[in-house]
Amino acid sequence: MGRLEQQVALVTGAGAGIGLAIARCFAAEGAFVHVADIDGAAAERAAEAISRAGGNAVGVSADVSRGQDVTAMFRAAEKSHGRIDVLVNNAGLNVRSDFRHLTDDDWERIREVNLDGAMRVARDGFGLLRASGKGSLINLSSIMASRGLRQLAAYSVTKGAVSALTRTLAVEYAPFGIRVNALAPGFIETALTERVLRNPAINRALLDRTPLRRFGTPDDVARAALFFASDDSAFVTGAELAVDGGMSAGL
Ligand SMILES: NC(=O)c1ccc[n+]([C@@H]2O[C@H](COP(=O)([O-])OP(=O)(O)OC[C@H]3O[C@@H](n4cnc5c(N)ncnc54)[C@H](O)[C@@H]3O)[C@@H](O)[C@H]2O)c1
Repeated sequence: MGRLEQQVALVTGAGAGIGLAIARCFAAEGAFVHVADIDGAAAERAAEAISRAGGNAVGVSADVSRGQDVTAMFRAAEKSHGRIDVLVNNAGLNVRSDFRHLTDDDWERIREVNLDGAMRVARDGFGLLRASGKGSLINLSSIMASRGLRQLAAYSVTKGAVSALTRTLAVEYAPFGIRVNALAPGFIETALTERVLRNPAINRALLDRTPLRRFGTPDDVARAALFFASDDSAFVTGAELAVDGGMSAGL
């Protein structure tokens, strides 16, 4: 407790799943959290629940694929604290499709949110991270950034780009005291993976390839995010941490 005392955090896509767990975890550690989500009502609910639990949070309606939403999101954060110490680029989505049937619309939507959104948040959040003096930017990549599974081409391409963006920004933002790292979760039980994990054959096949023999929880990822957010990782930048039960270590 208290590892993020006096810190200001902003988490995108924090109305549900991994982002919600990160927002809760950061608030429990003492941070003020801007809880942003395309689903404004979910963001509000999450912020209220955090406040009821004794934390400090505010809900923000923001679609990271819309430039004007991101501008308004950061303007509100600037007004309230004038800085962001921890910025989590978490908003993301997936549409599974055999590559040969992938529609232009699906490709564009996945790219707009997972990649263009992450780029925009990392770029437009720079000033507020610099104002922190020791900002931490955390990007949600995926083990799929460096592996292949059928029907995940578009998703994997965007996550591969997020990993590349992380390394580049680690170098470019370092002179401003900003560390940039990525989390690469494996299979975490959220709405994003619900359908695929409900399929018994796929579920078993994935578990067979997970040395720790279970799927991850959003809290598993939140605790790894806390490492990148806190001074415990003060000398860590440009790193990618797999949170996957050992899946990417195996064959
Ligand atoms: N669940 C997994 O197994 C897994 C694995 C690797 C990486 N990830 C990554 O973690 C992140 C969170 O995934 P999750 O499993 O919690 O997903 P989720 O679907 O449970 O939650 C995603 C949240 O993001 C919000 N969102 C969607 N589009 C948005 C947009 N355009 N702007 C703002 N908010 C938006 C949704 O409303 C939702 O609240 C994503 O980037 C995902 O790619 C997840």
